[in-house]
Amino acid sequence: MKLIRKLLLANVLALLTVLGLTSALAQPAPPVVASQPAAVPPPPVNGPLPATVLAWDSELKSIDANEGDEAGHLFFSFTNVSTSDVVIQNVHPGCGCTTAQVPANWVIPPGTNGTIPVTINLHGKTGTLFKNLTVTTDKGVKMLNFRVNVLPVPMPVMTAADRTNNLKIAMTDRQAVFHGDCATCHLKQGEGKYGKALYDADCGICHEGEHRASMVPDLHNLKVPTSPEFWHTWITHGKPLSLMPAFCGADGGPLSDMQISSLIVYLNFAIPPKPTP
Ligand code: HEC
Ligand code: HEC
Repeated sequence: MKLIRKLLLANVLALLTVLGLTSALAQPAPPVVASQPAAVPPPPVNGPLPATVLAWDSELKSIDANEGDEAGHLFFSFTNVSTSDVVIQNVHPGCGCTTAQVPANWVIPPGTNGTIPVTINLHGKTGTLFKNLTVTTDKGVKMLNFRVNVLPVPMPVMTAADRTNNLKIAMTDRQAVFHGDCATCHLKQGEGKYGKALYDADCGICHEGEHRASMVPDLHNLKVPTSPEFWHTWITHGKPLSLMPAFCGADGGPLSDMQISSLIVYLNFAIPPKPTP
């Protein structure tokens, strides 16, 4: 087999000829060799990768996304629980809509961890998608599965009476949106979310609302200059004596510092800062 790999490295065409003539050698060459002629990877093992070699955080993952999201992201993490190096030769997604970024011929020393970042293109997708990745190593092959639930984002329907009543409550306590029944729409949707998804849930509900009250400004057409500090101040403290609630925990809001940071990053990108007039 060593000789064959040498031949292969020297000239892939020559190997194909050898394979064609020699029936005993009629084994498909690992594609990674052809695309990475500089490295000499150990031969792949076609059997299943034993659980005693790589331990995975999960072999079946599930993520939620919203209709209209361009992409979904997830990670598979593993630990080399064996006593020798494992070489991940390639990670092959089961469909063209998925990409997995890993180094070529990735050597995982014993006792160390690695993470495979996976991106799935969700453009125009709805419903539940089932996908997989095939991880080929020098100790065997592992199949990882994941599911993406692409959820519709329904805008809640309210009567005019509901709105009037909600407004009245919020006028006496702008933090009321995070409590009681209000939380179903104004807080729960954003739990555990970051960035755009969090904006859509927690801010968009008021600021992008089709039927929103006239005192709720359009954040995309502000008259004032914006900046990360601007977003930070408004999100953290809101505005006393208005309907704009405070979102940071210290002010009675529901968001963690990390969630607030993710909103600032998103808003500064989605609504580019205007120069100071
Ligand atoms: C309950 C409805 C509501 C929610 C939820 C809400 N806002 Fe507001 N927001 C308002 C209202 C009303 C005002 C106008 C306050 C005023 O000046 O009287 C406002 C004002 C603002 C302003 C100031 C705009 C200007 O004119 O300078 C910013 C910035 C802002 N909101 C960002 C956000 C962000 C970001 C979120 C999500 C973290 C959010 N808001 C969530 C109702 C809301
Ligand atoms: C069924 C989901 C839902 C519930 C429950 C809900 N809201 Fe809202 N809220 C919305 C939506 C959607 C908007 C955006 C404007 C619209 O469509 O009326 C909004 C807007 C607001 C606004 C901005 C002013 C406006 O009318 O545009 C305030 C303030 C507010 N809600 C307060 C509350 C309070 C206080 C409660 C609880 C007493 C509450 N909401 C319960 C969905 C809800």
